[in-house]
Amino acid sequence: MTDNDNGSRTKRLKRHFGGAVSGDQFWPRPEIVDNLVNTIKDGESVSLFGLRRIGKSSAMAEAARIISQGKDANKYTIVEIDAQDYNALDKLLTEILVAVPSDSNLFTSLKKRLIGNRMFPEAVKKGLELILNMGGSDADFSKSLPNYWGPVCAEIIKAIEESGTQLILMIDEFPYMCKNLLAKEGGRDFVDNLLATFRNWRQGPVTMVMSGSIGMQFLIREHQLEFLHFNDCFAVDIPPLASRAEAKAMLDALVQSTEVDNWLEETSETLLDEVTVYYPSFLQHAFSRLKAANVRSRPQIEEHFAEHIRPAWDSTFFDQFDIRLKVYDEVLRDLSRAVFAQMADDKHVLRDDLAAAITTTQQEQLTEALKILKEDGFLSRRAARDGSESWRFCSPLVETWWQQRQSKKVKK
Ligand SMILES: Nc1ncnc2c1ncn2[C@@H]1O[C@H](COP(=O)(O)OP(=O)(O)OP(=O)(O)O)[C@@H](O)[C@H]1O
Ligand SMILES: [Mg+2]
Repeated sequence: MTDNDNGSRTKRLKRHFGGAVSGDQFWPRPEIVDNLVNTIKDGESVSLFGLRRIGKSSAMAEAARIISQGKDANKYTIVEIDAQDYNALDKLLTEILVAVPSDSNLFTSLKKRLIGNRMFPEAVKKGLELILNMGGSDADFSKSLPNYWGPVCAEIIKAIEESGTQLILMIDEFPYMCKNLLAKEGGRDFVDNLLATFRNWRQGPVTMVMSGSIGMQFLIREHQLEFLHFNDCFAVDIPPLASRAEAKAMLDALVQSTEVDNWLEETSETLLDEVTVYYPSFLQHAFSRLKAANVRSRPQIEEHFAEHIRPAWDSTFFDQFDIRLKVYDEVLRDLSRAVFAQMADDKHVLRDDLAAAITTTQQEQLTEALKILKEDGFLSRRAARDGSESWRFCSPLVETWWQQRQSKKVKK
């Protein structure tokens, strides 16, 4: 924090646009992160799914930073992994084991229970030894592990329990990993098993945080997985910043911490006018683009947004909705469109009204479809005390996308 000319306090924020940010690159979002930290510390597992680039990985990384720097940090062992490219169990297991600090009680217990385990065949023991001692893995282990996954996991759980730590397992892009595994031969049973194992872990000493830009509910439908294996996580949403004033404060903090020539109040105000939906990534990206292009006055900025910034956003943000819908089966796609057509002017629509507007066959699938649309970042839900339920687009972005697509259709 530094004093500005008015004597008020201005926060600083290191500019970064790309992957997850935390610490001095993370604009504080206590309304999301405090809840996340408290939930995790209480041992409740969390899912963080939704739109692309809204800050899911960053919220997870910031929660990990806060917990690992807290007064009671020694109660927890945090393992953070990005599973997007994983298509085999040994990679996942390797990452988990490698992340355990080698001077911890947990590490000692793991070594004793895994390497010294007389029930495992040599290939599995050798593989586990290679991981724990050198962070490596070999082909024989990769082949044998699926047959011993259950017993290996059981030993890991015992090791965690005996070491007295709470293992916080943060898996980014968890659904992508499941998708990769599902594409392999025997994938369905394999993933069902994995989900069952992880559920057991969560019922024990492991708290999981799973995030992803695609949700799990559609994979569950597509591959007829057991949904009970994944219905025990607390879903955290990431909305845009709450107000223009907060967006302005974040932008001021970026300007304050960056070497940028001739940046004017007019530059910031026009940027905010053009952005309209205040996700931190939009502010970071627009700030970086205007800075680099040396664009500072209102007319220049409006032009730059129309020519460069908004088209780039269209391909990152709007295309994701089209891609998602295309992946859905025809029944789900038609049903989704019928539901979107009922959404109006940023207002909640009663579930009963939605049901009344669709066919009887579609009504049978409405509950499942709404669950998927919520997790995939299309809709959000409210439940009233009287039991009534209502739905709306979860972000102005989705609404704008839908309106754009409708007007294109009308023009055709
Ligand atoms: N609280 C924040 N403070 C500052 N910048 C942020 C914050 N949250 C997100 N960002 C910006 O948004 C970018 C994307 O964030 P992040 O990678 O966490 O999003 P994501 O939802 O995980 O994206 P993806 O869907 O691509 O995985 C970051 O690189 C950063 O520029
Ligand atoms: Mg991410």
